Amino acid sequence: MKQFNTVVLDITVAILDFLYRGRDYQRFWVLEEIARAPYFAFLSVLHFRESMGLRGPEHIDLMIQHFEQSVNETEHLEYMESRGGSAYFIDRFVAKHLVLIYYWVNVVYYWVSPRNAYHLSYEVEIHAATTYAKYLADNGPDEKILEILNDELQHSRELELAMEKIK
Ligand SMILES: [Fe+2]
Ligand SMILES: [Fe+2]
Repeated sequence: MKQFNTVVLDITVAILDFLYRGRDYQRFWVLEEIARAPYFAFLSVLHFRESMGLRGPEHIDLMIQHFEQSVNETEHLEYMESRGGSAYFIDRFVAKHLVLIYYWVNVVYYWVSPRNAYHLSYEVEIHAATTYAKYLADNGPDEKILEILNDELQHSRELELAMEKIK
């Protein structure tokens, strides 16, 4: 399943890279819009599990972690908006449709196989960090982008820990 995650992600990234070449902030905005969806999908499933009496010992830790991650991703999104990332209708149209699909994919995936769902988001976070690192290498220092890059690495570490927790 992990290999499946990697292949799907690589194809999606290749398409987005092609569509968004030379439009960095629009690409970042779309990526941030998509990357935050899993966290509220995880929260939705955890809430539902709680309602069904399926709360495990790691439940509260995971709820706190995913809430903080979703807020942090919203901050990233707001920053990309302040740099014009969502200025065009076409980008908003693409992102909002992709996110709708990706949210429900993650709801089902996390319900059926939480570890694999975490692994997919882990790969997405690593990809985001790599994308920002490439931007910094090409465009020189940018404190805010570096801060966001470090947030994505932090999310990837938290997801690794979450995978361990639900073993
Ligand atoms: Fe982000
Ligand atoms: Fe992230």
